[in-house]
Amino acid sequence: MSISVDNLTKRFGGLTVVHGISFTVAKGEFISLLGPSGCGKTTTLRCIAGLDDADGGEIRIADRVVSAPDKGIGVPAHERQIGMVFQSYAIWPHMTVAANVGFPLAIRKVAAREVEKQVDDALEIVGMRHLRERQPSQLSGGQQQRVALARAIVGRPRVLLFDEPLSNLDAKLREGTRAEIRQLQRELDVAAVYVTHDQEEALSMSDRVIVMDSGRITQTGTPKELYRRPANRFVADFVGRASFIDVARVNGSGWTTPGGVVLRIDDAGAPAAARYQAMLRPESVAMVRGTASAAAGDTANTLHGRVVESQYLGAHTEYLVDVSGARVKVHSREDFDLGTEVTLRFPAEVCRLVALSDAPA
Ligand SMILES: Nc1ncnc2c1ncn2[C@@H]1O[C@H](COP(=O)(O)OP(=O)(O)OP(=O)(O)O)[C@@H](O)[C@H]1O
Ligand SMILES: [Mg+2]
Repeated sequence: MSISVDNLTKRFGGLTVVHGISFTVAKGEFISLLGPSGCGKTTTLRCIAGLDDADGGEIRIADRVVSAPDKGIGVPAHERQIGMVFQSYAIWPHMTVAANVGFPLAIRKVAAREVEKQVDDALEIVGMRHLRERQPSQLSGGQQQRVALARAIVGRPRVLLFDEPLSNLDAKLREGTRAEIRQLQRELDVAAVYVTHDQEEALSMSDRVIVMDSGRITQTGTPKELYRRPANRFVADFVGRASFIDVARVNGSGWTTPGGVVLRIDDAGAPAAARYQAMLRPESVAMVRGTASAAAGDTANTLHGRVVESQYLGAHTEYLVDVSGARVKVHSREDFDLGTEVTLRFPAEVCRLVALSDAPA
């Protein structure tokens, strides 16, 4: 394993902000820490980097224990063989591009000629070699971001750590840079941990995503696993667009809505809980006009409702449909007026049972 985090705990004053989390990252693997503001993503990353001191647990980088407070181990950041990119880039305005990129080597007392060579290599990789003598104030935001990236990879780190590195870029540039970061990380074949609160970024870039909530891990999985089979309502809500319909078990096998409609649901492996909901992704629900009833032998679920809101999004329109007892989001390329009576249809496999973890018994 390139990175192994075991039972990591971090407190600020009396407050515990990371509650004994554990995960590993293999060589060449790209994982994201995804979660809402304040859930402990940056803190976790800073503990791995050695910028914050952990209070408990153990962190290994390339099989070396770099943090184990119980044993008095706390390897300083510059000895951890990591490269890190921050949201703010943190490049020094009074130094040239080349001096910024070479800084981590200079503080490790690497010989000047070797620094020059490695700086040129790193700048070449990010396509910035021709700008090596510029001052940061003479660069665009995207170019400054590349300087930060070059500085992270100079000296060939064992692991790369990213803390929301793209949030200062405009949408178009952000998309292109995502792909470049991923390509760069593949070429270097190093482990990467990428912190983001942007679920689209996490899904599109990662081999695996770790969803965090209040200093704990709620689910770890591939982007497809998280999207299709979220472990609970929190993950289902946070990853992608979704609607939720309250359901209750009937006769031990089926599920029924508050409106009395029996639904066929994918409930395999769902955890025991006091309350459940059925989750639907808007793109997996088909919508037609009128109140058609299911043909004999048809196994798809059917709900009747009325369009109550619509939001035109270019490629499709997102409709909100009021079915008795719930509001369902539906993506459609067709036009429906508000108030239109519609029938929604969806197969059992796209209707996923989720547990309400915080529900009263
Ligand atoms: N230096 C500090 N002193 C005291 N509390 C801190 C410190 N740094 C972070 N915290 C607290 O720890 C918790 C986790 O913060 P952290 O920065 O890890 O969140 P985050 O998940 O990165 O959020 P964001 O998406 O907003 O960056 C928050 O409640 C925060 O207020
Ligand atoms: Mg943060």
